[in-house]
Amino acid sequence: MSSAPESSSSSVTDVSHAAPSDSGAEDIGDYLLSLREVAKNFGPVQAIRRVDLDVPPGQVTALIGDNGAGKSVLIKCISGIYPPSAGQIFWKGREVHSHSPREASELGIATVYQDLALCDNLDIVQNMYLGREETRIAVLDEIKMELDTKELLKDLAVSTVKSVRQLVGSLSGGQRQAIAVARAVMRDSQLVIMDEPTAALGVSQTAQVLDLVRTLAARGIAVILISHNLNDVFKVADRLAVMHLGELVSHGPISNYDTVSAVELITTGQSHRSPTSV
Ligand SMILES: Nc1ncnc2c1ncn2[C@@H]1O[C@H](COP(=O)(O)OP(=O)(O)O)[C@@H](O)[C@H]1O
Ligand SMILES: [Mg+2]
Repeated sequence: MSSAPESSSSSVTDVSHAAPSDSGAEDIGDYLLSLREVAKNFGPVQAIRRVDLDVPPGQVTALIGDNGAGKSVLIKCISGIYPPSAGQIFWKGREVHSHSPREASELGIATVYQDLALCDNLDIVQNMYLGREETRIAVLDEIKMELDTKELLKDLAVSTVKSVRQLVGSLSGGQRQAIAVARAVMRDSQLVIMDEPTAALGVSQTAQVLDLVRTLAARGIAVILISHNLNDVFKVADRLAVMHLGELVSHGPISNYDTVSAVELITTGQSHRSPTSV
């Protein structure tokens, strides 16, 4: 393949005028991320099959499905942890050839996993900059890091944190989620993937995290949100993607769905109330 002139990554090729493997070729450049016929096998186990998904910028895509449906495997393919066994991944209309966590991160894909990977014994600022501390004349620029952290939390409307010098271990679940998201966003992320961010949270903390999700979208960031909670999904999502037994059985604007059709799609992979391919 020819090299990609505008990209720092040699693994990306311009295909904005090329046809992907099925119809809808003319639209692919409008999306931040598109998957075409993506599959992932583990030996004989087909974890996901023929997944076509389009993720626009500045919108929240809720990814739903029963346990074992393939949601986590799908996001791990997107975030570069698993190389797909087949299919194509497009980023801004260009095909991504070799996809690793590092390359995904360079493209602007950030994933917030359920365990959040925060250090309880460090404060918020230290967690934000873990592994990429700002140095000025070989000294950690604590003042800059602290100011930048405060500004980012303010931008993200995270208002419940008393001090950025608080230990992360002392924060509530919702606040910890907010810090993990803020850390992801700090790296110029354009797509933030969140795996069940509200699963362990109470009502008001869940509301905080959902507000944060909307704030990200308002800043033009695309969010893929895995959730089991359909109330949350219908509150916060612009688009829905439903997985069933490893296949993405339906995806499209949230207005195409209601809770009845979402439950039907999750449990049977079909619904006469909503389209099963968009
Ligand atoms: N590393 C793996 N090795 C083998 N099978 C896996 C692996 N990861 C996931 N699977 C299988 O892939 C399917 C989808 O799993 P997963 O994506 O974790 O589902 P969920 O929708 O609950 O996140 C399941 O059948 C699971 O057992
Ligand atoms: Mg999972």
